[in-house]
Amino acid sequence: MPFDVTRVRAAYPALAEGFIHFDGAGGSQTATPVIDAVAGAMRSAVSNRSSAFRPGQRALELVAAARSAVADLVGGDPAGVVFGPSSTALLYTLARTLGAGWRPGDEVVLCRLDHDANVRPWVQAAEAAGATVRWAEFDRETGDLPVDQYADLVNERTRLVAVTAGSNAIGTAPDVPAIAKIAHAAGALVCVDGVHAVPHAPTDLATLGADVLVTSAYKWSGPHLAAMVGDPQWWSTLRPAKLIPSSDAVPERFEYGTPSFPLLAGVAAAVDHLAGLDPAATGDRRARLRAGLTAAQAHEEALLDRLLTGLAGLDGITVYGAPARRWPTVSFRVAGMSPAQTQAALGELGLCLSAGDYYAYEYFTTMGLRDSGGAVRASIYHYNTADEVDRLLGELDRLAAAGRTMAG
Ligand SMILES: Cc1ncc(COP(=O)(O)O)c(C=O)c1O
Repeated sequence: MPFDVTRVRAAYPALAEGFIHFDGAGGSQTATPVIDAVAGAMRSAVSNRSSAFRPGQRALELVAAARSAVADLVGGDPAGVVFGPSSTALLYTLARTLGAGWRPGDEVVLCRLDHDANVRPWVQAAEAAGATVRWAEFDRETGDLPVDQYADLVNERTRLVAVTAGSNAIGTAPDVPAIAKIAHAAGALVCVDGVHAVPHAPTDLATLGADVLVTSAYKWSGPHLAAMVGDPQWWSTLRPAKLIPSSDAVPERFEYGTPSFPLLAGVAAAVDHLAGLDPAATGDRRARLRAGLTAAQAHEEALLDRLLTGLAGLDGITVYGAPARRWPTVSFRVAGMSPAQTQAALGELGLCLSAGDYYAYEYFTTMGLRDSGGAVRASIYHYNTADEVDRLLGELDRLAAAGRTMAG
């Protein structure tokens, strides 16, 4: 069944304000069922977790429902879903915990395509332990991440391979299963940053070969909360720093303080919303998620093709990277203007795009683009339309022409 973007857009009240959002990679707009679930949890009697009375039981149920929803989203075990305020915070917790067991001579393999959240916590944990950091490099022309290099980077001293499932800078979708295979053959753990990839397609931890995957709900129509998903058996072998009286059970052991019960209600509602993207889908929630996100992916890929073809036909636009497998995210510059100027000019017209390095620090530093302002990013989400892509192309054409006039 074709993706009904008009129906889908009606589920996002913010879209009625008329802005054109090519900034989903920085955070999507929120779906109505999410807003209702958050408000509903705040309106009803919800106490701190306790089985002694109904409002406390509600809190327990909200947490359990959110764990089960995220497990369905990524193909994990609900008992292995750890919640935190952001993926950055969760990765810091994980890096400090794992790093406490590293010794000089141990190695970690990081990737220069990653958002800094899956880089700096590992660099700092390695520094603290005296461990060595090794780097996987991307192809500067295409933005692809060659898998072969991992055979040289990974050895019996490797403790961890951290890699992104999607570059938030240029959209590259690295071959994570192949990288994980090499890492696992050497006995290393694989930490996958799923923040950029999970909103755009069905995700399966086992297929990826991820020992742990992070995902942020605010990138997939939900609230500002994130999850880190791993095998509960493995979690039970780890000892994060924690308060003495707080629960030592898994996964609570990794969660600091009292959770936001309303936002957890929103997380479950967001997953249900994604599971409803294909109204004809049947089966359990995981099957409906697969159908809904597959339909959304086809829609997004058609828009990506339209955008890339359009950009290639414009004078004065430089697009960075042309990865063979990619998510619908494109970074570019308009000749004669800084990325911030392009962003501001588009912003005045109601088009929302990111500019700068979007924390893809290693990518922009390696490309030598960071000091001069990074790039402008158009990221497509399932509520975008072909008309919006055409509007963006039209405005970029005008800006590029103005840039040429100014330069001339
Ligand atoms: C690929 C990627 N990883 C990690 C993060 C960090 O996520 P959070 O804001 O939840 O810490 C982002 C945020 O933009 C991202 O795009």
